[in-house]
Amino acid sequence: MEKKNIDWSNLGFGYVQTDKRFVSNYKNGTWDEGTLTSDANVVINECAGVLQYAQTCFEGMKAYTTEDGHIVTFRPDLNAKRMADSAARLEMPVYPEDKFVEAVKQVVAANAAYVPPYGSGATLYVRPYMFGSSSVIGVKPADEYQFRVFTTPVGPYFKGGAKPITIKVSDFDRAAPHGTGHVKAGLNYAMSLHAIVTAHAEGYDENMYLDAATRTKVEETGGANFLFVTKDNKVVTPKSSTILPSITRRSLMYVAEHYLGLEVEEREVHIDELKDFAECGLCGTAAVISPVGKIVDHGKEICFPSGMEEMGPVTKKLYDTLTGIQMGRIEAPEGWICKIC
Ligand code: PLP
Ligand code: COI
Repeated sequence: MEKKNIDWSNLGFGYVQTDKRFVSNYKNGTWDEGTLTSDANVVINECAGVLQYAQTCFEGMKAYTTEDGHIVTFRPDLNAKRMADSAARLEMPVYPEDKFVEAVKQVVAANAAYVPPYGSGATLYVRPYMFGSSSVIGVKPADEYQFRVFTTPVGPYFKGGAKPITIKVSDFDRAAPHGTGHVKAGLNYAMSLHAIVTAHAEGYDENMYLDAATRTKVEETGGANFLFVTKDNKVVTPKSSTILPSITRRSLMYVAEHYLGLEVEEREVHIDELKDFAECGLCGTAAVISPVGKIVDHGKEICFPSGMEEMGPVTKKLYDTLTGIQMGRIEAPEGWICKIC
């Protein structure tokens, strides 16, 4: 199969329309078979639940070309499960988890020409999502839904790639206690837009959100979980019921413990502790692991010893091992790699 003529190494994190996407409709209490289509446009009623009351959730995952030339995805079963949790929280019908994985495989295979070549630094981002498609005007769940999966080739989420970024402690909250922070609801991202535009205008790359109840504990950024490394090489990640359970973070904690032999800890992280860590990184499908060099807390600068030029040594080892597993250079734990073709 001939690859598309794309400058893979210079891709940013943006939308490039690819050839095929998957669509399935939910009506009268059941999902239809679903199909691949070339039509990238969605046509829905003006009063659709998603347009009026933001009834929508999504997932994010990637397809990779491995060293030996196969196309694979990474732990899609966990994305399927998380989407089921998101749908249930938003009173949407669950898209069956096995069919979710099948749909992802179909769309990636149909867009194989857009899966960036091994070694290019780019990947194919896969975006499953669903939304209330029938009309609602009183506040209630829609009766009909659409589930779709599209793909887009992407480069690094942050412009500098592996160069450390600077983030600020945000004055805005991302998620309320007992709210929707633990699911991937579109509404979480809508309400983060003002905060990220504000942070960018002030010269920061991202926001660090604190827990809304006490504003003393580290939560996450708008699109990634945190990992910290202590001065004695322990890998620490914040525990909270209001952050998104990142699949990358769960995988990295496993890698840290079982591949790198490091001690790992998922626990509450207080803002006062930040100054004591040796390294900090943001982890997620889009972010992979993006190193953080500096956190600014209302004018007070916390500079990590790893500096502003390179990833810290433990972050780098985690990055190399995870991407090695995803690209087939390092043997994966059972069930992590889903071969497509
Ligand atoms: N946190 C938020 C708010 C996110 O949007 C994402 C991205 O999906 C993550 C964390 C990282 O999750 P994952 O590693 O499953 O992509
Ligand atoms: C992902 O990492 O897949 C996400 O959904 C994060 C998003 C902000 C791009």
